[in-house]
Amino acid sequence: MVMKEELNILIQAQYPLIYLVTPEEERAEAAIAKIAQMKTKHRRVFVWTVTHGIVEYGQPRHITQHNTVSPEAAIQWVVQHREPGIFIFKDLHPFIDSPATTRWLRDAIASFKDTEKAIILMSPFQQVPIELEKDVIVIDYPLPNMAELNQVLSRQLDQIKSRRMTTESREKLLKAALGLTKDEAEKVYRKAQVKAGRLTEEEVEIVLSEKQQLIRRNGILEYIEEDETINSIGGLEELKKWLKQRSNAFTERAREYGLPQPKGMLILGVPGCGKSLIAKTTARLWGLPLLRLDMGRVYDGSMVGRSEANLRNALKTAESISPVILFIDELDKAFAGGTGSADSDGGTSSRIFGSFLTWMQEKTSPVFVMATANRIERLPGEFLRKGRFDEIFFVDLPTTEERQDIYRIHLSKRRTDITRFDLVQLAKMSEGFSGAEIEQAIIAAMYEAFAQEREFTQLDIIAALKATLPLSRTMTEQVTALRDWARQRARPAASSVAEYLQLES
Ligand SMILES: Nc1ncnc2c1ncn2[C@@H]1O[C@H](COP(=O)(O)OP(=O)(O)OP(=O)(O)O)[C@@H](O)[C@H]1O
Ligand SMILES: [Mg+2]
Repeated sequence: MVMKEELNILIQAQYPLIYLVTPEEERAEAAIAKIAQMKTKHRRVFVWTVTHGIVEYGQPRHITQHNTVSPEAAIQWVVQHREPGIFIFKDLHPFIDSPATTRWLRDAIASFKDTEKAIILMSPFQQVPIELEKDVIVIDYPLPNMAELNQVLSRQLDQIKSRRMTTESREKLLKAALGLTKDEAEKVYRKAQVKAGRLTEEEVEIVLSEKQQLIRRNGILEYIEEDETINSIGGLEELKKWLKQRSNAFTERAREYGLPQPKGMLILGVPGCGKSLIAKTTARLWGLPLLRLDMGRVYDGSMVGRSEANLRNALKTAESISPVILFIDELDKAFAGGTGSADSDGGTSSRIFGSFLTWMQEKTSPVFVMATANRIERLPGEFLRKGRFDEIFFVDLPTTEERQDIYRIHLSKRRTDITRFDLVQLAKMSEGFSGAEIEQAIIAAMYEAFAQEREFTQLDIIAALKATLPLSRTMTEQVTALRDWARQRARPAASSVAEYLQLES
């Protein structure tokens, strides 16, 4: 495993201070213990916790070194320890900001030269005080891969003495657990087994729904299931064509053909014109899971470094579930100000923005980023540079024809026979309306008629349209500015550029 190798190299190379970010202590500890034994020269491993102080790895917890519960005393003990060793500090992060702890750590690593001693800080969050930034090397412990999950599954199957399973069924159960830690996977398999009384391919659904709950619990990523298909979106033909063309972009066949994996797309546009909807329906079109990254929740002011850790964890989870679509709605709100902002939040947003960009640039796993935005002036320019996203689309107010399409879709959703509506007239009468506003007009018309205990008609819709002042008129300036900007830089999502330009007149 790559991770173990990296850790091994760092330890061999006598790095004095390593920060291991992982929620899976046991797995990481076992890996470190193995490394400590692998060398010809055996090193002892000690583990510190705030509850027990320092205990040698593998020893019962009560055999603890005296007076090592306080972080400072523990570090002092490590400094005074004469022999080579690896000293794991579990969850030191709540104490690490104390000036004494930081100072002790710095003194400790300075004293480690040529001693074959190393401190490994292990915690689910990364939190490094500025004073230590230069001395510490941070590594993320990745989530288990299929092979590692296979060990977990095999153990579970052995326990229940399950009959042999085909490779395909096994693979499905493993795939369903990707993105979980080993502990979580074990729990999920066990729960599926308890619920269904067995563990076969048919329990994949249970595993998946358990995983969804676990992922939701971390609060930053959310599984989204969308019932609508791409056909329930009116217009936007270019955009739809682009997406349909890439339906099989993440298959083995596409790789063999020599195609690169799509990286992501940015959909800019006027509010209420179907940006979020199209992003959500793409998952169905491509047959991939859809994860929404809630940028608002990434920000956590409670602790320095927590926001970055949040982002990194979320991206790590997304990667481990890949191929997947990562949906970031309203990117402009998340990164408002991004670089060069007045640093009102101590630079957190620009740091987050930086890590996100780096991740986008360097990611090799098939995570397709689908972002939407409507205030481009608030979006840092770096996002728009060529090469970040495969394509930037601009979703404008619907054209007359697109509006007909939208009426057809929304009326068909509610009534089986829609021939009694004159879609051409309705489309003409709703110049400047967004898809969302058209939908609202239909609903308003229905309420009106329902209150009068009759079926709604063309006239009810027209009345509702007349009573509505569309956003494009109340916010003319913003909408015009957005259009002017997008005309030069983004690809129109509607059917043709000519039609799009006509709209301007
Ligand atoms: N082109 C369209 N075809 C069909 N329905 C549409 C279309 N555009 C918008 N709608 C309807 O309006 C609703 C809201 O659209 P959506 O949330 O996708 O807009 P948005 O562009 O993301 O807006 P915002 O910028 O405010 O987030 C959709 O769920 C859909 O019912
Ligand atoms: Mg939206």
